[in-house]
Amino acid sequence: MTRKRVLSGMRPSGKLHLGHFHGVLENWLKLQNLSPNASIGEENECFFFVADWHALTTEYNNPSGIKDNISDMVIDWLSAGIDPERSTIFLQSAVKEHAELHLLLSMITPLSWLERNPTYKEQLAEVKDKDLHTYGFLGYPVLQTADIIVYKANAVPVGIDQAPHLELSREITRRFNFLYGETFPEPQTLLTETPKLLGTDGRKMSKGYNNAIFLSDPPDVIEKKILPMMTDPARMKRMDKGTPEKCPVYFLHRIYSTTETIAWVEEGCRSAGIGCIECKKSLIPSIIKRLEPFQKKRQELIKKPDIVNDVLNKGNKKAKKIAQATMEEVRKALRLEVRG
Ligand code: TRP
Ligand code: SF4
Repeated sequence: MTRKRVLSGMRPSGKLHLGHFHGVLENWLKLQNLSPNASIGEENECFFFVADWHALTTEYNNPSGIKDNISDMVIDWLSAGIDPERSTIFLQSAVKEHAELHLLLSMITPLSWLERNPTYKEQLAEVKDKDLHTYGFLGYPVLQTADIIVYKANAVPVGIDQAPHLELSREITRRFNFLYGETFPEPQTLLTETPKLLGTDGRKMSKGYNNAIFLSDPPDVIEKKILPMMTDPARMKRMDKGTPEKCPVYFLHRIYSTTETIAWVEEGCRSAGIGCIECKKSLIPSIIKRLEPFQKKRQELIKKPDIVNDVLNKGNKKAKKIAQATMEEVRKALRLEVRG
């Protein structure tokens, strides 16, 4: 079995919601736990990090919130089963080598590659409450490339929205190897298969939209969020027939309910045999039950105030060692080694 180095990061957005869990974390867990019979250390070698510098590309106005968001997010990772004994969990800004490599990569990255990045163009057009016309924001994928290749990662699990960034990372890596000699493996994108999951208002689940159900939401909050959830607008009255595929409640059923319940929803919705409140009420306990082990573990973890720092300190050291070794090579490749 070839042991792959897997690396991925998340911006510290605070407490994680169901979209993060099914969209990213579940996949990280799979990769971490691949070949469950192998003894510890024989699985993929996983690196998961908090991309706090990336958060600054958009939150430079208000950096003070980032710290709390880091702890909240790392606690959620640990509660979900990301295991610091098996995976290296670290903080981007604690490993300064990312910044040095970012600088060097910025020398060889054509502006046109960055300017035509679809994510960049989209965000510039959409985000109105922040000025994103900055050098740092344009260079977001260059920093992301440094994050990846400074560990010579082979595979990067990300959602489809990150695919253009990864494509750029491969291009920048190829250009480096071409200019200075074969130094880095080209990182492969591991596209995460994600179940369709929408927020309570039918839009994409996002903290910013105020439509998210968080992994740490207690049972009464979950109930309060599900009951008024948007449904298929065709079901105005109880007798109106609906289409489950047009309803965000249905997509949650698909994730959290048994096959029988899903069939009951599909049939009952199409025939107006069930009402939306009934449908939602059958969903609530299954979400609560599914989150229970996570929340129990979370309760235990928050009793240990140093846990996040301890985990990050240990991971930072491991990450740093690798990043330092890579940078020695990089400086040599660029003839930047000065001997005194
Ligand atoms: N841009 C990623 C996101 O928003 C986070 C990220 C930063 C990342 N650096 C990375 C992901 C390196 C994978 C690899 O989700
Ligand atoms: Fe949605 Fe269920 Fe109502 Fe159908 S019955 S519209 S799936 S809440």
